[in-house]
Amino acid sequence: TSKKPWGGRFTEATNALVEAFTESVSFDARLYRQDIQGSLAHSKMLAKIGIITNQEAEQIHAGLHRIRDQIDAGEFEWSTELEDVHMNIEARLTEDIGDAGKKLHTGRSRNDQVATDIRLYMREASDDVIDLIRALQHNLLTLAENEVDTILPGFTHLQVAQPISLAHHLLAWNEMLERDAERITDCRKRINVMPLGSAALAGTSFDLDRDFTCELLGFDRPSRNSLDAVSDRDFMIEFASAASLVMMHLSRMCEEIILWASESYKFIDIGDAFCTGSSIMPQKKNPDIAEIVRGKSARVFGNLHALLVLMKSQPLAYNRDNQEDKEPIFDTIDTVARSLQVFAAMIPSITFRRDRMEQAALKGYATATDLAEYLVRLQVPFRDAHEIVGGTVHYAIEQNKPLSDLTLAELQSFGSMIQDDVYDVLTLEGSVNARSHFGGTAPARVREALQAAQDRLTPP
Ligand code: ARG
Repeated sequence: TSKKPWGGRFTEATNALVEAFTESVSFDARLYRQDIQGSLAHSKMLAKIGIITNQEAEQIHAGLHRIRDQIDAGEFEWSTELEDVHMNIEARLTEDIGDAGKKLHTGRSRNDQVATDIRLYMREASDDVIDLIRALQHNLLTLAENEVDTILPGFTHLQVAQPISLAHHLLAWNEMLERDAERITDCRKRINVMPLGSAALAGTSFDLDRDFTCELLGFDRPSRNSLDAVSDRDFMIEFASAASLVMMHLSRMCEEIILWASESYKFIDIGDAFCTGSSIMPQKKNPDIAEIVRGKSARVFGNLHALLVLMKSQPLAYNRDNQEDKEPIFDTIDTVARSLQVFAAMIPSITFRRDRMEQAALKGYATATDLAEYLVRLQVPFRDAHEIVGGTVHYAIEQNKPLSDLTLAELQSFGSMIQDDVYDVLTLEGSVNARSHFGGTAPARVREALQAAQDRLTPP
């Protein structure tokens, strides 16, 4: 005779290969808290509508709490014969408290049960990831406070483009993260819907009080359609997509940190505690955190793809395929959380080499656009100004001098209208100060933008 709750219809024992192949408890046991939370609410509701007695509900509650404590303490023995987290807990409950345990699953299926568990789990995970993003933002904004007046070259095509404030650069990272947190906050709305009551697919003949269960579990509302509620995992795909964007953004920041820490740039030093060395080359100090986070993005993108393909073409309603949703979504949550955590921890260890940044900006003719715009203000059409400055830069390269080191006479040989106030725009400070519109890199604007970002993160 089978130990399996569904054993009644069967006359043969499950093939051992099948049992090993179909079990999910080895990875869904991590839903036990949510599974118990769901069962506590479901049984309370069953007592409220008179399907079980209050005494039975109390027995169920005490039993479930004991089981939770045992699992917490690592004393619960999981059985693959019982397939998944749901049947393991229910079977143990019945073993412990007898007949009342057998009533718990009234008006419920593992299909609405697992969909509920995973939504509870992902609701918490969303909150955790949002907190981690905000902690990273906090560290970035703190770092930016001292770098409003620090100037480095901004790049396009990885070629020196125009001087920018370092805080402006860090605030660009902050914008990315702010959108990431918003996306997860938005996704959470669609996660926080309760499938319980949908049962296997068609609902149940018991007149369940779904609003009551919903309130107990803190869901925003019960699901509107039982077929949809047990089958779709679009909320996971959405989360994996938002998580992929987080990783994509982290990978961009990592890439810059790796470049900035390189011998050729030397814009930053990363704290020793956040670097590793080489087993052969004694001089090495490598930015491995940034590299590994950049690398971790690959598995999160892979998980997104796995979930999309898993869901594609599945007919209504529940299909066992969906058991395969767990590992990719758990891995996504773990990876994005751990990446955010270690990346955020590394940020305060970064020190900036302001002199290197300034030299790089001076070397790259980063103020050439400023000279062209200066000429435009003297009524030179922009295309002509572009041409004149192109010639000036060509000459300066030959002379191996920055633009601001050219004499007025040299500059005037390219444009006779140039006066000695030109030097105000040729310096790095002049260049950044001039970009003083909203969203620009002028330190005065950047200081405001930083304050606004801090106020959004921690409302005053
Ligand atoms: N372990 C299953 C899952 O993860 C639970 C639902 C199983 N339902 C069923 N009818 N076999 O989806």
